[in-house]
Amino acid sequence: MSPATANATTGVATDAMLPAAACRTDVELSIKALLAAVAADGAGITSARPAIEEKKALLQEWLARAKEVRARGGYYPYVGSGRGRGALVELMDGSVKWDMINGIGVHMFGHCDPGVMRASLHAALSDVVMEGNLQFNADGIALAQLLCDEASRASRLKHCFVTNSGCMANEAALKICQQKTGAAPRVLAFRDCFMGRSVAMSQIGDEPAYRQGLALNMLVDYIPFYHPEIGERSIATSVALLKELIRRWPKQHSCFVFELVQGEGGFKTAPRAFFAELMTVCREAGIPVWIDEVQTFGRTTTMFAYEAMDLGEFVDVATLGKMSQACACMYTEAMNPKAGLLSGTFSASVSALQAGWSVLQRMRDGGYYGPEGRIAKLYDAFRTRADALVKQHPEFFPPYKTDGGIESRNWVGGVGGMMRLTPFGGDKERVSRLLQHLFEDGVIAFLCGHGPCHLRFLPPIGVMEPQQFDEVFAILKRSLARTH
Ligand SMILES: Cc1ncc(COP(=O)(O)O)c(C=O)c1O
Repeated sequence: MSPATANATTGVATDAMLPAAACRTDVELSIKALLAAVAADGAGITSARPAIEEKKALLQEWLARAKEVRARGGYYPYVGSGRGRGALVELMDGSVKWDMINGIGVHMFGHCDPGVMRASLHAALSDVVMEGNLQFNADGIALAQLLCDEASRASRLKHCFVTNSGCMANEAALKICQQKTGAAPRVLAFRDCFMGRSVAMSQIGDEPAYRQGLALNMLVDYIPFYHPEIGERSIATSVALLKELIRRWPKQHSCFVFELVQGEGGFKTAPRAFFAELMTVCREAGIPVWIDEVQTFGRTTTMFAYEAMDLGEFVDVATLGKMSQACACMYTEAMNPKAGLLSGTFSASVSALQAGWSVLQRMRDGGYYGPEGRIAKLYDAFRTRADALVKQHPEFFPPYKTDGGIESRNWVGGVGGMMRLTPFGGDKERVSRLLQHLFEDGVIAFLCGHGPCHLRFLPPIGVMEPQQFDEVFAILKRSLARTH
């Protein structure tokens, strides 16, 4: 079957990828009518608004039920109503909030996006709900092929295993690397990395709270991430430590896993030279280079972050997820594992595959990437307002200490659709309080960093307009004042 072709602006599949019923004119008209009904229903959602008095009890009831079944409350008193519009989401109590975190980077086109809903409606007409590794339809092949086409433009990545979480994509990557290196037992990773919550990933991730009580069986060597405050010295320190670890444990490392922009670790990045020097050392020692793009994928100024940094030549394995809806582990021909290593009942739901494919088409063709693309412009809009806020209110932004104890005045940071602000000296307790105030005032954000702690925005870069940050920052200013 030929790969599906699509309308560049809507991402709608136009050939055999769709179930036959979806191609019927009367069905298409019905889908249009359904989308029009949803649009009309959400037309009144135009800005943040407080809860509706008579709906408050409904939210409380659902929160109590959630607490009962989950054995604990959530981070926010959040239960979505299933309604929303772009960057705005409605909760069960009728309140509307600016969603600046989007399921931690998943809802690239925000809420009730007609393109995403259309893909889900098409998926609903398919014969099954879930696709797997034994029996699959064309959707999974088309998604994997699109990813391979994009990835291979600037790397040797050639194959793609689709899975249903970032963590499972990472498990696949680790297995591929271990098999390739003859079961080498050690892993190289960056300080403050995050990789998911399976038994193995909880151990590689650099957060003790996520592995408390686990029977530890992974051998992980941590390398310090780049410190912009000390520049070149930071590169030399990390490279020297890597060489020392390889000398101490020859042929014992299965991989070095890289996040090119640390997500949970604090939206930190580094110049190309930092990564390139470490990757060169790995290559010389025969250690596979694995880039974890689960959070960065789609969000920087190229679809794969390694492309913008011109690091594709080094990549042996890459993992991705979140905005792609279905997740994936990609690898070169040389890393192709033996049959039996990668499989599972599910690869992903038909709706995740259809929606992911549609979203990626739109991202690729919709003018999002490049130095002048929509993502770069959205980051500029964030940065301009954040810089002005820092200048206007220095009382909220004292200098903070980085993880190396070095003083920093880099209050505004991040890359592309990964946006960071560091108020209150990066104090976790105060930043957490700020987040609760922001939530009450109408903005949903999150934190990142293991100390200092930062305010993290993962806005819906597919639909958010730069000027919408005006209202977000007006609320942020109020919440900062309340917290201060
Ligand atoms: C860099 C990175 N890797 C892996 C994961 C795990 O992905 P998932 O939560 O889909 O399992 C995450 C999740 O935030 C991540 O940021």
